[in-house]
Amino acid sequence: MPTHPAEPFRIKMVEPIRLPSRDERKSALAAAGYNLFAVPAENVFIDLLTDSGTGAMSQEQWASIMRGDESYAGARSFYRLKDAIQDIFGFDFFVPTHQGRAAENILAALMVQPNTYIPSNMHFDTTDANLRARHGRPVNLVNEVAFKPSANVPFKGNMDTARLEEWIKSTGKENIPFGCITITNNAGGGQPVSIENLKAVSEIYHRYDIPFFIDACRFAENCYFIKLREPGYSSKTTKEIAKEIFSLADGAWMSSKKDAIVNIGGFLAMRDESLYQRVCNELILREGFPTYGGLAGRDLEALATGLYEGLDESYLDYRLKQTAYLGERIKEIGIPIIEPAGGHAIYLDAGALFSHIPQNEFPGQALVAALYIEGGIRGTEIGSVMFAHKDPDSGEMIYPKLELVRLALPRRVYTQSHLDYVADTLKSLWDQRSSYKGYRIVYEPELLRHFTARFEPM
Ligand SMILES: Cc1ncc(COP(=O)(O)O)c(C=O)c1O
Repeated sequence: MPTHPAEPFRIKMVEPIRLPSRDERKSALAAAGYNLFAVPAENVFIDLLTDSGTGAMSQEQWASIMRGDESYAGARSFYRLKDAIQDIFGFDFFVPTHQGRAAENILAALMVQPNTYIPSNMHFDTTDANLRARHGRPVNLVNEVAFKPSANVPFKGNMDTARLEEWIKSTGKENIPFGCITITNNAGGGQPVSIENLKAVSEIYHRYDIPFFIDACRFAENCYFIKLREPGYSSKTTKEIAKEIFSLADGAWMSSKKDAIVNIGGFLAMRDESLYQRVCNELILREGFPTYGGLAGRDLEALATGLYEGLDESYLDYRLKQTAYLGERIKEIGIPIIEPAGGHAIYLDAGALFSHIPQNEFPGQALVAALYIEGGIRGTEIGSVMFAHKDPDSGEMIYPKLELVRLALPRRVYTQSHLDYVADTLKSLWDQRSSYKGYRIVYEPELLRHFTARFEPM
């Protein structure tokens, strides 16, 4: 029996949750067009839809909220955040944004020309869509091992550097406005990237004069994986590791709703002052003045506090062990997951679990619906609903290599018994797995369809 880590905090405030009856769950799901994003949260018992903005803030963060300076321009809270970003990431220039995708939109608006290519290990959904919205072409160059769910390797988020270089040569550096890497790799199991790989990626991008940006939502979890797994890093602090990582890049953006444990917020940071000037102009047009960028002063203050809490090693130790605990419990049942356990989530291999459901009937969607009906648990499909798209040249449908369901753990929110409940529910679902059916889409928007699509059972 795996062991759950002791939480390095105690509970000071509680929020009641309720398990609706099976009939209530069935009608809530049907009313939502079988899309879990449309189910009211009150009808969800254990909400593992996302780790984004769903964490529990600490007493220090709540105290920061009270200290927020709400001045329109030059608020004290902005300078506190600026100091934290300089201290942890080492970037001189940054703007706050209301969340990660606002930073992505600014970067795409300023840098992406139609039919240019933007490489990464794997772009997550909003990054992918923001690039496509500007007629750019996101390209995923993660190591092939990322697509082998049972392969237990330490840095499964690493980019294939040999492929990256070949690909740059054949694409032409003039067609690549910038390159990225996502840490940890959310589209591929929450898997970390090693410093060795980050150094190689940075060296290649820079040799071809391609600016290098890091999608840094879960940078702290990535740093702790490096401390645990990469030779030569066990005695470094997570903050020292972060400094080293970001010294390799020309910029970074962060949805701070993840590793800064705030309910809203993000930023875009860079070294190039002329890019910063253009970013400010774009920000003023859409988000707000550069010293608040769509956030309240109190949000900036809580974010600055949260950046340090997210790097705290006793917290990170508990965090990664809690995720691994859920992974072990699920594996014991026989359900295939992406191994090893990711930082923020366990990814169920829905394609293998529901191998009787073809990709165009969305096995991941069938699994999230089944989990909700069986136990009032909400997860996210990360498969063909989220990522299948028409090839812009041939018009052919391209399906992702894996059909996954992500069970994302909100930070400092659920306890061992909640996770045991999730594992027990999965056990009964596993026992009757051949009885579940696929889905067809009856409504979908052009981009990011998973948020608002509606389905019907086959
Ligand atoms: C890797 C990654 N990048 C970008 C984003 C977008 O951030 P936000 O949801 O704050 O807009 C997310 C959100 O889940 C993410 O996981």
